[in-house]
Amino acid sequence: MVRFLSIGYAPSEQIFPASSFLLESRNAMKFFIDTADLDEIREANEMGVLDGVTTNPSLMKKVGGSDFHEHIFKICEIVRGDVSAEVTATDFDGMMSEGRTLAAIHKNVVVKVPLIIDGIKAIKALKAEGIRTNCTPCFSATQALIAAKAGAAYISPFIGRLDDVSNEGMEVIRQIVQIYENYGYETEVLAASIRHPMHVVEAALAGADVATIPFGVIKKLIHHPLTDIGLERFLADWKVYEQAGISGDGVQS
Ligand code: E4P
Repeated sequence: MVRFLSIGYAPSEQIFPASSFLLESRNAMKFFIDTADLDEIREANEMGVLDGVTTNPSLMKKVGGSDFHEHIFKICEIVRGDVSAEVTATDFDGMMSEGRTLAAIHKNVVVKVPLIIDGIKAIKALKAEGIRTNCTPCFSATQALIAAKAGAAYISPFIGRLDDVSNEGMEVIRQIVQIYENYGYETEVLAASIRHPMHVVEAALAGADVATIPFGVIKKLIHHPLTDIGLERFLADWKVYEQAGISGDGVQS
């Protein structure tokens, strides 16, 4: 159950993460943007509803060019919230070393660690050093259970990629949410590989803690043709009302 504070308005300068306007922020669904594109991150952040960012090597490839660590730092400077940055090593020592370096970039960096045996070991060891991790990519409830036992801060089930192979991605989210609730795991369920607004709706209904959403889908969450038509009509009627006021004529609708 989410309880709302009787707040006024969000300050124009964002002082708190967007979800801090809910009384129990652990229960507030967080919106992350799933991109490494700084312009998209800036634009989404300006809406005032962004709680964090997820990146991955493929998203880095899309933006290209820049120094990875510097790029992650720039993202942390834009958004007040967790920023996931992925290790590329696949052995324990390599992941530990990369994880420490990434975590040192900024306090909001969450280290993405692959869901493999060495990754699970690294999650546990990084947690012991106070470094938060995002265990990824997850495709089953058993994987999520192991990640939670190891102490991952986030588990990232990839909904869209499961749907792509005729498995119901959302069912995996539902199972994980239930399992974590059964045992009180603190690992947050981060619905990833979101492809369209209904994924967001269903992830929210399932109780996912976070949805990481591509910029195009964030915009689709807002758009509704009836809103556009309704607004157009209100503005047209307002013009008529104003003109009637100037000319002194009453206006009948
Ligand atoms: C999450 O952290 C991943 O970056 C992302 O959601 C993957 O999505 P995709 O399946 O669209 O590549």
